Amino acid sequence: MSRPTTAATEIEAEAEAEAEAEAEAEAEAEAEETTDRYTFGDSPLAADRLALLAATYEPSSARLLRMCASLAPGRAVDLGCGPGHSTRLLHAVVAPAATVGLDSSPDHVARARAAAPPGIDYAVHDVTVTPLPGAPRPDLLYCRFLLTHLRDPGRVLAGWAAAAAPERAALVIEETASMSSAHATFQLYYRLVAELQRHYGQEMMIGRTLDRALAAAGWNAEISGVRELSLPARRMARLHGLNLATWRHDPFARASFAPRMLDELAAGLHAIASGVEDAPDVQHSLRQLVLMRDAAPP
Ligand SMILES: C[S@@+](CC[C@H](N)C(=O)[O-])C[C@H]1O[C@@H](n2cnc3c(N)ncnc32)[C@H](O)[C@@H]1O
Repeated sequence: MSRPTTAATEIEAEAEAEAEAEAEAEAEAEAEETTDRYTFGDSPLAADRLALLAATYEPSSARLLRMCASLAPGRAVDLGCGPGHSTRLLHAVVAPAATVGLDSSPDHVARARAAAPPGIDYAVHDVTVTPLPGAPRPDLLYCRFLLTHLRDPGRVLAGWAAAAAPERAALVIEETASMSSAHATFQLYYRLVAELQRHYGQEMMIGRTLDRALAAAGWNAEISGVRELSLPARRMARLHGLNLATWRHDPFARASFAPRMLDELAAGLHAIASGVEDAPDVQHSLRQLVLMRDAAPP
């Protein structure tokens, strides 16, 4: 039997629903302020983008990783491995006794597992959480294009220093220091991505601001440089177009960027990607670092 409805109970119910909605919104806003949000997705489209990204950066990553081969690591970990391109490159070039790829996305990890050669394992894991899974503890850590997606990289770098093998351990990092183009379409794209990332407490150009956090976390630079890459506009427009198709559905992007502007941006990137419109190369300054953490005192 339903309760008789009076004006008073209706008002009460309305007030209760309003309070609940407010509390929910507050909880959501609080979670957004404290948790990491990876805005570039893990759909098949996002995986296609990461395949293109891997092909684009393979020569520069391989040059850096070749310098680490003499470290002869026992167990290497690729942090934020995605569908496994960076893990396979790490394994092939540095030849650790064992290599593990970790990613928070079960879909990316499933793709990585499907293409894993002998000697590589994968696990689903949020790499901001330590200890890292498996044993022994890794003596080489690698992360490419990951720190830019974390809101507190200093805390995470310190966590990795504690989670690495007790003897000497290495950390290899590749992150963007700057990206620029003389073409307005790329300029708009980079401005919007930077704004989206800033909203989530992330730094698109983290490659130029890492040093203090690394030193505070106990990682000392053995190799530190910026590789200047001149990348073909057609390829970069394709890469960014694939990414825009994902991040334009992010709640902040939907609320903050006019759909018409995003449609025009997508069309502009498509025109460059397909060769209908010419654009000069994109200039990418890629920060590359090899760091060591000394053995922990006995
Ligand atoms: C730009 S992709 C780079 C993938 C790979 N390192 C490469 O260079 O090909 C960043 C990856 O980090 C993963 N990721 C982001 N935050 C993470 C976290 N907290 N823990 C584990 N993986 C994370 C994403 O799922 C994504 O696969």
